[in-house]
Amino acid sequence: MAASEPSDASAVTRLPPGRVGPPLITADRLAERVRELGRQITEDHRGRRPLLVGVLKGAFVFMSDLARAIDLPVEIDFMAVSSYGEATESSGVVRIVKDLETDIAGRDVILVEDIVDSGLTLRYLRRLLSDRRPASLEICVLLARARAELDEVRYVGFTIPDDWVVGYGLDVGEHYRELQAVHSFEPDA
Ligand code: IMP
Ligand code: MG
Repeated sequence: MAASEPSDASAVTRLPPGRVGPPLITADRLAERVRELGRQITEDHRGRRPLLVGVLKGAFVFMSDLARAIDLPVEIDFMAVSSYGEATESSGVVRIVKDLETDIAGRDVILVEDIVDSGLTLRYLRRLLSDRRPASLEICVLLARARAELDEVRYVGFTIPDDWVVGYGLDVGEHYRELQAVHSFEPDA
């Protein structure tokens, strides 16, 4: 058998133990809020060409909708960082898995993230990117926990409770990113 083939197909199809709840934020509410954020970003960046920096993988769905809700020419790039691995508990360590391809010096950068939880990932990325001397650096998050520190976040989609959430790009162990709404996920006790 080729090394790239999974030796056990059920390892790929097996769902994580737990249950996806009803929609916490419906696809319609997501679409409406993303349009509002797009309008706000458009107003705030008139005459400029912002560089949207998406944080992989969770932000990929949000960022693709957001890019199309901004009525300005935009450029996009992505970074990948890892702080959780496959667990739902933060390891407390942020690691760059993929860096930008774009030189951001002098650029108007908007960092696009799926969710701010402890704020560790955003604090780390903000410091890393601001060291590269962008003309401006704003942060746009789709979701924020009620307890999250949001002083440095200019654009916030929704504030949510502490439950783990999946869908619209967010995962649990690489599952459920494809769901159209944001759902809570209740792991088995
Ligand atoms: P922070 O560094 O603690 O703010 O964690 C932020 C990162 O953890 C996000 O970019 C997500 O990738 C991940 N994360 C935190 N909470 C959730 C969740 O409820 N669902 C999916 N991913 C989450
Ligand atoms: Mg993330």
